[in-house]
Amino acid sequence: MNKTETLDALPEGIARAAQILGAQGLVAFPTETVYGLGGDARSDLAVARIFDAKARPRFNPLIVHVPDLNAARAFALFDAQAEAVAAAFWPGPLTLVLPLRVDAGLSPLVTADLDSVAIRVPAHPVAQALLRAFGGPLAAPSANPSGRVSPTRAAHVLEGLTGRIAAVLDGGACAVGVESTILGLLGAPALLRPGGVSLERLEALLGPLAMSGNPERPNAPGQLESHYAPAASVRLNAETANPGEVRLGFGAGVADLNLSPSADLIEAAANLFHMLREADHLAGQGGRISIAAIPENGLGRAINDRLRRAAAPRGLIHAG
Ligand code: TXA
Ligand code: MG
Repeated sequence: MNKTETLDALPEGIARAAQILGAQGLVAFPTETVYGLGGDARSDLAVARIFDAKARPRFNPLIVHVPDLNAARAFALFDAQAEAVAAAFWPGPLTLVLPLRVDAGLSPLVTADLDSVAIRVPAHPVAQALLRAFGGPLAAPSANPSGRVSPTRAAHVLEGLTGRIAAVLDGGACAVGVESTILGLLGAPALLRPGGVSLERLEALLGPLAMSGNPERPNAPGQLESHYAPAASVRLNAETANPGEVRLGFGAGVADLNLSPSADLIEAAANLFHMLREADHLAGQGGRISIAAIPENGLGRAINDRLRRAAAPRGLIHAG
């Protein structure tokens, strides 16, 4: 592949990105959560290119991005509950897993041949403009090599994927900073992945939610699968740094980097992946990072989920 183009998030850059996507090429683009690696979700070639660029295992299905609920109805079946959840949270950082329509026309690679589909309407204005300019559904996993830290800036995308994708649309830093919450609506509603919409907000609409037995949500340390892995080793819930460790703080206290000096979970989520990368650079090869405890509520659930997998034993690389 040739050099990866960096495109400004202006009409000309968006038109160029849509042209590349129309030719089954890959474009990384900003969403409010993280940068996605977009390809035409109807094209086997484009979707195969996504798996190849990320070195992502093919059994791990992708999220389909559309500009609005009406567009989503072409790909998934919405019952009254799904309609209500979509009306409440779209556009926004929530992905719904719904029954796949038989006439959806998506590449079977997107859904890994399942009869369900994960679908999301991003709120980011550049993602919205791109989806409308392209005029079709975009399959888009996070724009990072599989198993590594997700990108929240165009420079992060280039660090991992330069030369492997046609272009990145630069829309600046992502405001939410952790991936979308994934809600399964195939039977009783189930939380499949904590993310940018808090469990509290979902439960206010749906009542108590079942937690999924999905390996994305390990409930015992032995089940942890490595993902979001920096090169350095990671120690969690650390009250202070040991000698030689790079300290990633939260709230008051001495730290090399601080997710949120005022202990604000929204700010901490927005800083998480960038600061994990910075800490990794500071620690260097074979280095160690210690991270302060983060409260397990609101966006803290999504932060802790990502941190547990960043700290998990390597080797069991999870797909994503
Ligand atoms: O915020 C986000 O969701 C970002 C941005 C780019 O939209 N995307 C993202 O995609 O995080 P990815 O591929 O890194 O994570 C997608 C997750 C995977 O864990 C996958 O297993 C799950 O969605 N998934 C996709 N289709 C599914 C399905 N039919 N049933 C259950 N899980 C599904
Ligand atoms: Mg990912």
